[in-house]
Amino acid sequence: MKDTYILGIESSCDETSVSIVKNGTEEIATVISSQIDIHKDFGGVVPEIASREHVKNVTMVLEECMEKANMKIEDVDAIALTYGPGLIGSLLIGLETAKTLSFVYNKPLIPVHHIAGHIYANSLVKKLEFPLLAVVVSGGHTELIEMEKHYSFKKLGGTLDDAIGECYDKVARVIGLEYPGGPKIDKMATIGKKTYNLPVPLKDDSYNFSFSGLKSAVINLAHNEKQRGEEIRNEDLAASFQSVAVEAIITKVKKAIIDKNIKNVIVAGGVAANNGLRNAMSELSKELNFDLSIPPMKYCTDNATMIAAAGYYAYLDGRRADMTLNSKSQDELK
Ligand code: KG4
Ligand code: ZN
Repeated sequence: MKDTYILGIESSCDETSVSIVKNGTEEIATVISSQIDIHKDFGGVVPEIASREHVKNVTMVLEECMEKANMKIEDVDAIALTYGPGLIGSLLIGLETAKTLSFVYNKPLIPVHHIAGHIYANSLVKKLEFPLLAVVVSGGHTELIEMEKHYSFKKLGGTLDDAIGECYDKVARVIGLEYPGGPKIDKMATIGKKTYNLPVPLKDDSYNFSFSGLKSAVINLAHNEKQRGEEIRNEDLAASFQSVAVEAIITKVKKAIIDKNIKNVIVAGGVAANNGLRNAMSELSKELNFDLSIPPMKYCTDNATMIAAAGYYAYLDGRRADMTLNSKSQDELK
């Protein structure tokens, strides 16, 4: 069978990235330009600055990727892009770039949901086996998704308020860590002890999550300690928070796996880089005897490799967009 090359473009937040992936599984070349250093002075991503940086970077990133792949745009079969969800101004830069390439080179335009990208980061590591449960944990999403076949997504549950990554970043801010705080909390948690008592959120019978109560509990705790003139032990707070946050995820994942007798589980999204979660998922896979896939660190955070990989399966599924395609800051994964 003829090989299929998909060019992917990702610009939903603060990474401008272009990648070429062969047959949905083999990375040919990827270039990522991250804006973290620009946004960290502001304690988070500033949407207006992010869009301007994407405008500045996208052409260079595209050219560098083509050079790295030693390919021309004529050689690719389709152009895939993140159409949403994300920051609207940022998304639009990737959208316009993809539309222009699609129009000028007469290539199909494939719209990819950002979370489908995170899920398909796993197909760069191993062949996906169905039915599977995707545990999506990122800065904007916390969802359990069941897939019976390629490019078919059924949401079992999700967060009722904050996403887990967002909660990590806010807790990090409370203890004075720079954006993005998630990886820093993860590191501190390995040094600290679980000495602070924090509530495990949403212990109910659903597949949903809630992180705003946990976030408030950490903020209140820090505030109360300060008022009493006590120093917060940051490492211990990180360890206590991480243990509760991971337990909240694992409890619902376990319930879904048992209820639905699931044999294949993948973890997806920026928080899939979390060591506490990776260890807990791997323990759970031994306990419940399921096959587990967690992408390596480089595919966990935002990149266009995962968009090109998902784009391949969207292409096989017949998904196409025309020049009326627009970016969406929010959209359900379908
Ligand atoms: O998937 P992603 O790039 O964002 C969305 O698509 O929404 O994930 C970014 C999020 C940030 O909130 C970041 O703090 C978090 O993932 N993150 C982590 C870790 N690495 C990244 N959170 C906890 N532990 C980590 N090791
Ligand atoms: Zn992401």
